[in-house]
Amino acid sequence: MTRPSWAPEGIDLDRPSASRVYDYFVGGMHNFEIDRELAQMIEKFTPNVAETMRANRDLLRRAVRLLTDAGIDQFLDLGSGIPTVGNVHEVAQARNPQARVVYVDIDPVAVAHSQAILDGNPLTAVIHADVAQADSILSSPDVRRLLDFERPIAVLLLGVLHFVPDESDPAAAVAKLLDACVPGSYVAITHATADGQPQEVLDAQKLSGRTSTEITLRGRDEIAAYFGDWTLLEPGLVQLPLWRPEDPADIGENPERSGAYGGLAKKD
Ligand SMILES: C[S@@+](CC[C@H](N)C(=O)[O-])C[C@H]1O[C@@H](n2cnc3c(N)ncnc32)[C@H](O)[C@@H]1O
Repeated sequence: MTRPSWAPEGIDLDRPSASRVYDYFVGGMHNFEIDRELAQMIEKFTPNVAETMRANRDLLRRAVRLLTDAGIDQFLDLGSGIPTVGNVHEVAQARNPQARVVYVDIDPVAVAHSQAILDGNPLTAVIHADVAQADSILSSPDVRRLLDFERPIAVLLLGVLHFVPDESDPAAAVAKLLDACVPGSYVAITHATADGQPQEVLDAQKLSGRTSTEITLRGRDEIAAYFGDWTLLEPGLVQLPLWRPEDPADIGENPERSGAYGGLAKKD
């Protein structure tokens, strides 16, 4: 297929990507036929997948609003994805125009789009990096320039850690990122799980192997461990639709089968 103008040169147009599949599920425009085909295959196995992804995006918006209202004005958003409606800097800067945001993604399409959207917004930046490489993220010039680690920061790890295989030791990377933060900082994590899921989900998980970032489903205890000794805010680590719903419709029929957990914790 021909490369659309918004897709950076050098990307593999014949291979679906996690960020473009997610973009499709949350109603974005930056996906190819190959991404939509994979999304539709995944949907056959897990009909509630689009709902779960939207619940993830809702959690992101609610968490950023809560954090901004709590006085947080700097965000490190890892695995930030292709910009879509309600990006972190938009939600945060609507409440505090001085809020600073550094986005990090491994996908060149997500990075190129973020660059285009952030052009002219000096309090934001995007870097192309692997979340598993915590040291290089923490020492990157944009992170050092925009974020002050002497003050509280919000670290966002939404929908990303399940793309990091055990061999890359996501727990060690998260621990390094959290260690770099002072008390008063927060971390938000959402993560796909097999808990409460039928066998079809495990079959759908294998489909993610068609992208360059296969999903690793993890159990609640393993996901809870990423928060270390930070204190989880109410309602704790719960299936996504149960995290601070704003409307009964947000909860849906079977929230315990959403296939992903989410939580927000504070460093005491
Ligand atoms: C499901 S999207 C989540 C987007 C956004 N955080 C949200 O919750 O709405 C996951 C993103 O993580 C990115 N990603 C996957 N593996 C990554 C890695 N090892 N390091 C950084 N980003 C990664 C993908 O490219 C994709 O854009």
